[in-house]
Amino acid sequence: MNFSELHSQVRYKTDQGLSNIIDILPDHSSTLKSAMRYALLSGGKRTRPLLVYLIGETVSVEDTDLLTISMAIECIHAYSLVHDDLPAMDDDDLRRGKPTCHKAFDEATAILAGDALQSLAFTLLADHPMSTNGGARRAALVSILAKAAGYLGMCGGQAIDLQTTGQSITLTELTQLHQLKTGALLCACAEMVTVLAPNLTPQQTGALIDYARLIGLIFQIQDDILDIEGHSDITGKPQGSDLELGKNTFPALLGLHSAKEELAKLHKQALQALTGLPYNTEALTAFTDFVVKRDH
Ligand code: IPE
Ligand code: IPE
Ligand code: MG
Ligand code: MG
Ligand code: MG
Repeated sequence: MNFSELHSQVRYKTDQGLSNIIDILPDHSSTLKSAMRYALLSGGKRTRPLLVYLIGETVSVEDTDLLTISMAIECIHAYSLVHDDLPAMDDDDLRRGKPTCHKAFDEATAILAGDALQSLAFTLLADHPMSTNGGARRAALVSILAKAAGYLGMCGGQAIDLQTTGQSITLTELTQLHQLKTGALLCACAEMVTVLAPNLTPQQTGALIDYARLIGLIFQIQDDILDIEGHSDITGKPQGSDLELGKNTFPALLGLHSAKEELAKLHKQALQALTGLPYNTEALTAFTDFVVKRDH
């Protein structure tokens, strides 16, 4: 199977799984349920599930477990986007080519949809079928995802993003901001899979986590570049939103040319992180190229 077939397969499995999860929720708050469905199932790339599956299949983790982890991470990711787009944050009206959640519904519903999706992520890790019912393993997954989503990860990064908007910061500070707001969740994909992998050495675990950390940074730098060079009809997001808000981004700090050079340097480092692994890493190499070259 080539990379794009693999990607379609992961997108299909994740979409089906999430759709079923939303379907079985009772209808006592049907507007909230619709907003959750809208946030989760409006055409995301499923980059994080793809990373989960590619690493998971490389290190022989069961498919059922990969699906549960993928759905949980997408719930956190979808919640982060719904809140990121709110007027109090980036105040964006377009996401995945459609009105943002607070535009399609209203602000209160969008806030609640984000909250409920966050809670759903942890419900999945605690309760959804997995090949292991070992409580310790489930607790480890909850711990990894909770840290990556909260103060130590995405929320901490989003807070720095908002506080430093319009101010100048150093490259070290910008790198930390990107690693927290975006890198932490991508890194958690690798960390959760390694918890379930039967025979990984500490060195192999370390290499996969280093790789995912680099992917996180690469992913956000390319997102920053797309804010300038992308086309709204392809990215599905308003072009120039960062510029308009005075956001700290790699192109804003270094200039577009140097931001692209930095991206190329990190691309090489990510491929380098894979070299010591005793596996066929062709699919992960293709994934790395996809993250660097993506146009949406
Ligand atoms: C956008 O994430 C927000 C960032 C972390 C840069 P994605 O580009 O993964 O969004 P979807 O899920 O594919 O729409
Ligand atoms: C968002 O970064 C990262 C999140 C944690 C949601 P951005 O604000 O750059 O993401 P987009 O460009 O709106 O998707
Ligand atoms: Mg933002
Ligand atoms: Mg944003
Ligand atoms: Mg962006």
